[in-house]
Amino acid sequence: MPLSLHQDPAKAALGRRLFNDVRLSGNSSVSCASCHNVARGGGDQRAKSLGFLGQPGAVNAPTVLNAALNFKQFWDGRADTLEAQLDMVIRNPVEMGSSWPAVLARLAGDAAYRDGFAAAYRDGLTIANLDFAQRGGANDADRGRYAVIHNSDDLHVFKVPSLRNVTRSAPYFHDGSAATLEQALDVLFKFQLGRSGSKQDKADIIRFLNTLNSTPAGQP
Ligand code: HEC
Repeated sequence: MPLSLHQDPAKAALGRRLFNDVRLSGNSSVSCASCHNVARGGGDQRAKSLGFLGQPGAVNAPTVLNAALNFKQFWDGRADTLEAQLDMVIRNPVEMGSSWPAVLARLAGDAAYRDGFAAAYRDGLTIANLDFAQRGGANDADRGRYAVIHNSDDLHVFKVPSLRNVTRSAPYFHDGSAATLEQALDVLFKFQLGRSGSKQDKADIIRFLNTLNSTPAGQP
């Protein structure tokens, strides 16, 4: 875990605006923040998130806190980079139901974005720069095409999600099937350790997990 991320503040500020902007969705009803509330653990406290038409998606929204440091994105690891993940969520017919040209056309009508992008990027507001700003202008040596590995060994294998702020990101698991951390621990004890956990063990683990919480920038 790097101690600090070298980010351009102007690009990060644009990214923050985009993250909270409903114009990224096809009918201007949801923003990234609708499903990833950074003040509440980076998720949405629902088992399944509701997309731009109000339909539930297939899986639980994981936290976005520190997601830039994930080695893969999504529960099944199908996106190698944040750019790939962003592209999928913007175009996903349940989540945001939009397209990059549509997003660009809408934002180009907003002088604040035009000026902000012109100041932060040599070529101003473009689809590529929208993508960059969204990830906070972080270094991206890893830009590139991604491939989903079709390997039957990987069936039912899920990425181990981050434990950062985990006590605030209920419900748990890719399908949101555990409503509380205690229920999630019961399942983990049973399937990972082959036994049940005592009340004391679970309380101690939850106390430890609480120490992994952080306060997002800009929050009291
Ligand atoms: C409708 C709800 C919804 C919206 C809107 C949404 N997301 Fe998500 N997000 C999810 C869900 C659900 C997943 C998990 C999907 C999966 O694993 O298949 C996810 C996964 C992610 C991940 C991967 C995290 C990890 O640990 O694997 C990142 C990063 C992310 N979203 C960022 C964003 C950004 C940035 C936006 C806005 C452009 C956005 N999301 C919009 C619901 C949403």
